Amino acid sequence: MSTGEAGHTGPVLGIESTAHTASVGIVEDGARVLGLASDMYRPPAGGIHPREAANHHVELLPRLVRQALDAAHVDPAEIEAVAFAQGPGLGPCLRAGATVARMLSLAWSKPLVPVNHCVAHVEIARVLSGLEDPLLLYASGGNTQVIAYGRGRYRVLGETLDIGIGNFLDKLWIELGGTFPGGPALELEARQGSELVELPYSVHGMDVAFSGMLTAAITYHRRGVARPDLAYSVESTAYAMLTEITERALAHRRRDAVVLGGGVACNERLRTMVRTMVEERGGTMFAPPRAMCVDNGAMIAWTGRMAHRAGVSVPVESSAVEPRQRTDLVPTPWRAG
Ligand code: ATP
Ligand code: FE2
Repeated sequence: MSTGEAGHTGPVLGIESTAHTASVGIVEDGARVLGLASDMYRPPAGGIHPREAANHHVELLPRLVRQALDAAHVDPAEIEAVAFAQGPGLGPCLRAGATVARMLSLAWSKPLVPVNHCVAHVEIARVLSGLEDPLLLYASGGNTQVIAYGRGRYRVLGETLDIGIGNFLDKLWIELGGTFPGGPALELEARQGSELVELPYSVHGMDVAFSGMLTAAITYHRRGVARPDLAYSVESTAYAMLTEITERALAHRRRDAVVLGGGVACNERLRTMVRTMVEERGGTMFAPPRAMCVDNGAMIAWTGRMAHRAGVSVPVESSAVEPRQRTDLVPTPWRAG
């Protein structure tokens, strides 16, 4: 990885393809989104099959690049760099996006900038919040982490010990007879519910776990508990767990600002519960617009732009994807000082 001079400045194009969503964003100063084109792969039944999702991305990405450029009224010559999500994610999906990014980088003679998907969720939420150094609750499909910046890295203070909250909601919804994605559908269903059934509440310090709740909820469903009540109970329990670990992290770190990020941060109930907790402590809570919570190319472009300005780029030959790349192992030189 090079950390040399940044050179030409201009809008950055970012490609997201880590899981279900293929997306291309073009972003300039202040995270202003000039163009954004996305398409989510929706399996007809069951969960996501990595190869089928990757085929979807391969098929759609060239068109999404065109759409984003047209929407932004930007010529490739004006682009500063091409950023791509290097990981974490599904190998075949990551490779689809990385291949398109490498091609564009070579064809346009632009630097290639690798971006960590989780850090991108965090950075787009942070810039939109206007808060310099908040605590972050990153709640998405594959990840559930409470994060704070410290000494050159984003530090994970607490996280899920098994599955991500979004994957838990998606799996449950499919078990209840629905289709992917489950989170938004479960949110609507929960609004019709009112009876609280007791589910395993699994908080261990600043960590959480969801697999026990998944098994219990499926058992309740088989015993005939109404779907709206089950959805209501699952949201109440799971989001209370997230609110509790966020509060614990706030107290430990002596912080007063929380920013939400990731697809599950779209959820109104989660937003309200975290906001109430933070405001009762006299602090501030910010949640980005929903389009910036779910996977999108703009967050990759924005983070890539900061990374490139800090001198980060990689030659095509060493731009391999990293399906297991962790939030706390990637350097964030743009935050130095
Ligand atoms: P990760 O960022 O961990 O790699 P991901 O990229 O698969 O996960 P995101 O796009 O960040 O996922 O988030 C998708 C998840 O958000 C899905 O699990 C989806 O069900 C969930 N989600 C989206 N909207 C809502 C909502 N309104 N309520 C709850 N969950 C939601
Ligand atoms: Fe994501």
